[in-house]
Amino acid sequence: MAEQTSAAAALAGVEPVPGVAKPDPILIADGVQRRFGGLTAVDVEHLEVQRGGITALIGPNGAGKTTFFNLMTGFDRPNAGTWRFDGHDLSHVPAHQVARYGMVRTFQLTKALTRLSVMENMKLGATGQAGERFLRALVPALWRPQEAEIEARAIELLERFRLGHMRDELGGELSGGQRKLLEMARALMVQPSLVMLDEPMAGVNPALTQSLLRHVQELPSMGMTVIFVEHDMDVVMEISDWIVVMGQGRILAEGPPADVARNPDVIDAYIGAGHGDESRFTPAPRRSGTAPAGVIEVTPPDEDEGTEDLADGADRRQEDQ
Ligand SMILES: Nc1ncnc2c1ncn2[C@@H]1O[C@H](COP(=O)(O)OP(=O)(O)OP(=O)(O)O)[C@@H](O)[C@H]1O
Ligand SMILES: [Mg+2]
Repeated sequence: MAEQTSAAAALAGVEPVPGVAKPDPILIADGVQRRFGGLTAVDVEHLEVQRGGITALIGPNGAGKTTFFNLMTGFDRPNAGTWRFDGHDLSHVPAHQVARYGMVRTFQLTKALTRLSVMENMKLGATGQAGERFLRALVPALWRPQEAEIEARAIELLERFRLGHMRDELGGELSGGQRKLLEMARALMVQPSLVMLDEPMAGVNPALTQSLLRHVQELPSMGMTVIFVEHDMDVVMEISDWIVVMGQGRILAEGPPADVARNPDVIDAYIGAGHGDESRFTPAPRRSGTAPAGVIEVTPPDEDEGTEDLADGADRRQEDQ
């Protein structure tokens, strides 16, 4: 299990019950609901996320984890509910503005752009996540004043994620694991205070998993709060300060790793969701077809159309293919 971090220490006295208040929450969600037809995908009465900690969001396939991320980051709209991030009401703020408040997310299926170089991907990240117009980001005149600063930050992050030597490679040349690293590095270009990582380890070669984990663990020391979705309970137990368990859209349990692991509700959530006699904590199935996992082809920069695909719903669209 993780060494005692300062966030873990701050959470030590917090009662492990759903919706419990935290000493210093950076994100507070209230009454957040998202329905798709007759299905309630998210129904979160109250959730607080402790600043500076690593919070795992776990739950079986279809529990509503990605939908919850989509809602918080403006990639989807709720049927009801409000949430405050760092004191700001973000309930009606669109995705491209959410990043400017300091909240960014990565996607379950990576969105590293295969036809742009690693460095161009990073520069795109600096514009405030995926919402900004693609072309604009790549017109040097529009970012020249901060060009040197942006480039320096990109290089520093690429070095940190051991991608420095790949800066001129195309995104499409990277392995699945390297793409995950690139996506995380790119998200950090806006110097966020909260990063939401949706299955950052999924599809990553086991050789890279440990270094990816170390990178995630370092984020709080860089001043960031982390929420991550993960199916591998070993990973969850190793790096989390706090675990939130979702099932059928609701928060079923939350608490420090040791409490959650022995919570019967957690066991029920996994077994009760059709996982049957499988291991309770199986990884999410791969959902892409013949293309390498998580690759999204995007129109090259000289063509203006199609670039808004970056902005919304692409997770779901991609699965529909
Ligand atoms: N755009 C959509 N239209 C219809 N149903 C949706 C849509 N997005 C999500 N759902 C449904 O909402 C529920 C929650 O889905 P979600 O992707 O949030 O689950 P998850 O916890 O991220 O699962 P996984 O672990 O498999 O990634 C599922 O039943 C899913 O089929
Ligand atoms: Mg998901």
